[in-house]
Amino acid sequence: MTPAILLTRPSDAPRQSLAEYREEHGYVALTRALAGDPEAVLGAVESSGLRGRGGASFPAAVKWRLAASTAAETRFVVANGGEHEPGSEKDKLLVARYPHKVLEGLLLCGFATGATKGFLYLIEDMTEQIDAATQSIEELRDAGLLGAAIAGSGFAFDIEIHRAPPTYVAGEETAAIGSIDGGPAKPRKKPPYPGEAGIRGCPTTVNNVETLAHVPSIVRLGAEWYRGIGTEQSTGTMLFTLDSRVQRPGVYELPFGSTFRDVIYGCGGGPRSGRAIRAILPALSCGFLGAEHLDTAIDHATLRALGTSVGCGGISFVEEGDDVLQRVSEIAAFFMKEQCGQCPPCRMETNQIAHVLAGVRAGKGPGYAAQIEKVTAFARGKGHCSLIEMAAAPVLSALRLFADDFAAAAGPGAPTADA
Ligand SMILES: Cc1cc2nc3c(=O)[nH]c(=O)nc-3n(C[C@H](O)[C@H](O)[C@H](O)COP(=O)(O)O)c2cc1C
Repeated sequence: MTPAILLTRPSDAPRQSLAEYREEHGYVALTRALAGDPEAVLGAVESSGLRGRGGASFPAAVKWRLAASTAAETRFVVANGGEHEPGSEKDKLLVARYPHKVLEGLLLCGFATGATKGFLYLIEDMTEQIDAATQSIEELRDAGLLGAAIAGSGFAFDIEIHRAPPTYVAGEETAAIGSIDGGPAKPRKKPPYPGEAGIRGCPTTVNNVETLAHVPSIVRLGAEWYRGIGTEQSTGTMLFTLDSRVQRPGVYELPFGSTFRDVIYGCGGGPRSGRAIRAILPALSCGFLGAEHLDTAIDHATLRALGTSVGCGGISFVEEGDDVLQRVSEIAAFFMKEQCGQCPPCRMETNQIAHVLAGVRAGKGPGYAAQIEKVTAFARGKGHCSLIEMAAAPVLSALRLFADDFAAAAGPGAPTADA
């Protein structure tokens, strides 16, 4: 059994105070790091193989190096806790219950990249998280672990909580930067990447709060120790969220290489209904997998080869007897509502997918698969952010996996108009 790196307390434990975090060796990594060179922290994160837990699974150290090596007087760090994807609760849990793990990760990232200020990016309605973070930042300041000359070192760093609007795209990294800069929380085109030009045009490292929460253990116990958990290419543990369709909903921490069965049945107790699982959705913005993949290992390369991804770990499923079209339509409706309206191809794609699915459900006959494939192929890569690809993944995989359900619902009627 792999020891928990993140969820080290009982699931109903309240916010971990600074004193309680110190009992778990909290801020030992930071004080040790401050006595040495930022490169030691960067090197440890690089050797650990840590990848982002916010959805894109990008190697953390690559971003850190970009920000650290971009010439600038000022650099920033953002801990992205803007979690707004239905079915994902892990970031809210981390900030509410384990704020110091996130804050120590933020401080270590700041030290490693030469930043002087960090933002904890939360959504304005996350009152529990805002309260927990506010108390924890005050504790840090009182303990001399924030502000000038942290722990008697030459490192000065401050942390501010930023309250973002409650939209899905607000969690995208350039939208987060825009919001912190006082503008609308809408994505902008990349490049430049945040590591080159982010907040106030300065190099900015944006990481998911879970990504940063892994860093203190990596720095304290070493990259080799971290690499010993998970698989060779997907190191460490990941948080998975299960919703109320399982017997034991909640957020669970498992090493990479665990199977979907381990998460859904081992942790969640399986579907509450007792019905068999027909398909798995690793996260809302990923492709569906057939039930034959219940015993597939969850790691980046395996899921990529299967045409899906790890996403942010909000695992859900389709059960035997479920209305598949309704489920896929709900997902499509989410993306149509949450696209920010800036990029015409994204607006067009998300609206068209929802429209075609409504046609299928109304029994308007064949032609729907070609229309969806055409519109998603046209839109691919044409947005400021990857919402275009996120909206396409579930529906394209559903067309293949649930071909019979689609055909039965669409019926033999006349084809709908071309996309
Ligand atoms: C539409 C959209 C919404 C996103 N929402 C979040 C979010 O809520 N939290 C998050 O950490 N990353 C989110 N991301 C990904 C971020 O842009 C970025 O990749 C991430 O914060 C980087 O952190 P990581 O490398 O540690 O995963 C979103 C991306 C897109 C396209």
